Amino acid sequence: MLKLLALSLFLVLSSPAISSEKDDLAAEARGLVKAFGGQLKQQLQAGMKGGGPLVAMDICNAQAPAIATAVGGSTGWKVGRSSLKARSENNRPDEWEMLAMLDFEKQKSAGKDMAAMENYVVIENSNGRIFRYMKAIPTAEVCLACHGENVKPEVLAKINQLYPMDQALGFKAGDIRGAFTLSKKLD
Ligand code: HEC
Repeated sequence: MLKLLALSLFLVLSSPAISSEKDDLAAEARGLVKAFGGQLKQQLQAGMKGGGPLVAMDICNAQAPAIATAVGGSTGWKVGRSSLKARSENNRPDEWEMLAMLDFEKQKSAGKDMAAMENYVVIENSNGRIFRYMKAIPTAEVCLACHGENVKPEVLAKINQLYPMDQALGFKAGDIRGAFTLSKKLD
């Protein structure tokens, strides 16, 4: 009887239901990242084509947070972006996000493909359980107009006006620019 109890306890503790819940949530998060990233890219391309980085800056400034909210919508997900060197103060990382992104940097130094870099956990605290997910965002050539080493003076002026605490300059193509960050309260 005791043996049976011990066995069932073992089965509960090592229950695959818990890890599959996590994996299901990660799959959901990947879908949201795809939608969010796709819409950001579309807006950025339209802005750059329509008027260059100055016009696109206004779009990023106004649209990025709005798109994040819209993609989360009524799903219960909080959707956003963060960076170890953030432009917007609203995108500064908390401790878990910082550790996840430092780990991405470590993986990059070890030669790992950025496209495969993600991290997810279920965190339990006094407020209940929360699922958190991050996925690395690579820096492409098109990003350098606003995040690179040689940003045009008029673009720089606009950045300083909108983001006096900006840290998101000096990136090179192939750097990790930041990460998508998502969370969902579970119960
Ligand atoms: C036209 C200028 C512009 C271009 C080009 C641009 N960004 Fe940004 N980026 C911004 C602005 C403005 C913000 C701040 C948005 C906000 O207020 O949330 C930002 C914020 C971010 C953030 C959120 C973290 C932070 O620093 O606040 C990430 C990640 C990011 N950009 C990645 C990229 C990537 C990747 C590219 C290229 C594919 C890119 N950006 C191209 C202007 C630009």
